[in-house]
Amino acid sequence: MADFFMGDTPHGWLKRVIYKKYLQAYVAKILNFNLNVVLIDGFAGEGRYGSEWRNEIESYGSPLIMIMVVLQFYCNFIDIKNNQTIGTTWTNLHETAIRRFMDEPTEEDEEVRGAELGDIGITYIYLVEKDQKHFQALKRNIQLYLGKIFPSDVELETESDQSVIIRVRHPQFPITISIERKTFGEFHRERVPDSKTLTIVDPFGYSHTPMQHVQKFVDTESEVLISFMSGFVNRFCRRNLEAVAKLYGIERQDMYLAEFVRIVRNNADGNPAENPKSCTKSYINHMKKRTGSAYSQFYEMRGRSNDVIYHLIHFANHPKALEAMKETFNTCTQYEGEFKMSDYRVLVEGIPLELGNMQNEEELANTIFQEYCGKTVMLAEIENYVLEHTPFVFRKKALKLLEKQTDPKIINVVDARNSTKERRRWSYPDWGDWKLTFRGSDT
Ligand SMILES: C[S@@+](CC[C@H](N)C(=O)[O-])C[C@H]1O[C@@H](n2cnc3c(N)ncnc32)[C@H](O)[C@@H]1O
Repeated sequence: MADFFMGDTPHGWLKRVIYKKYLQAYVAKILNFNLNVVLIDGFAGEGRYGSEWRNEIESYGSPLIMIMVVLQFYCNFIDIKNNQTIGTTWTNLHETAIRRFMDEPTEEDEEVRGAELGDIGITYIYLVEKDQKHFQALKRNIQLYLGKIFPSDVELETESDQSVIIRVRHPQFPITISIERKTFGEFHRERVPDSKTLTIVDPFGYSHTPMQHVQKFVDTESEVLISFMSGFVNRFCRRNLEAVAKLYGIERQDMYLAEFVRIVRNNADGNPAENPKSCTKSYINHMKKRTGSAYSQFYEMRGRSNDVIYHLIHFANHPKALEAMKETFNTCTQYEGEFKMSDYRVLVEGIPLELGNMQNEEELANTIFQEYCGKTVMLAEIENYVLEHTPFVFRKKALKLLEKQTDPKIINVVDARNSTKERRRWSYPDWGDWKLTFRGSDT
């Protein structure tokens, strides 16, 4: 494992892009609501790969991604208050810090930001790392980075071999970071008033994330993004019964092996290539049953031989969280209509990893029509259906496609509030309560 943090893989890079993009959406949503944010990283690592200090946030490990995304948010908040272009302050702050790793310190070192104050939520970051070397490196990397940005505003509290608290004292950047040297299993969260929590669980294997523990991080105020080692689970569910049973929170007494494997792969349809995905779906079912969590999404990561390595699973209770994760997965997928990537495609077939919106609005329009042909429904119902039962993000453009074509599939649109206001053709403005009638199917 010694070289893990020196090397990189396409799927490793993409996972960190997913972390960055989702964290950006999440942190903005919560802090803009005047709530506090709690971010937990249960398997934190060193925070950095290699020896360079690079500009792109995704070139860092998850703990520094968390810190940078939060700083970026506070900077954008300052920009809005100062009527500046969004990103100006962040670029100045972050790039100045990166430059300072190369430059000699100058007299100007104290001056990286303006002095506009705002009333905004606090961010608490909890980082858990069991390995002594990684713990020390993580602590050093965070201190170095924050030290370059806030030469006189970073304070260390209760530093010991086992833990440290790093606090940014600058009022525009209210961040407290706690790093603990222990196992995720030993970590117990503290509840912070008026806050929402996102926990990232990114283990190497599957034996250190028993469901009984992970489920404590999923509730109405808290969501989890876990790397679920479905490839391993599928291969080892016959051999490592105890660990797999704990992973799923399954009581195993008196259960035959075949029955156990069936439960782990409870959606398997006889196609072995689908087994890892079935293991993931069954894990999702178990977790949802135990936590009452309303929403989940997963993203498939395949390795160099095109085998499934793991699924990134997101558990949440708010429709906005589900929507933001879908947007993130959608931007990061290599396949239209599915959330997945494969190192094989990149390293063997030579297809570059590109980020972009992979959603095909025509496909979304067809999916909506299949579901509602011959029916009259409220727009809100269509939005819910798309959100919860399809891989798509809802966009009104799909409705426009259905209504605008020469042989329209949406044949009537009325405002259920009976407002006298006229809508513009092929638009569904937020002021109305739109009821749409779809024509019958072609067949
Ligand atoms: C896959 S790496 C995490 C990578 C990190 N998320 C990133 O983006 O750079 C897993 C880390 O968890 C640590 N680890 C292993 N077992 C652990 C446990 N039971 N509890 C906490 N940390 C653990 C390892 O030392 C390693 O640093």
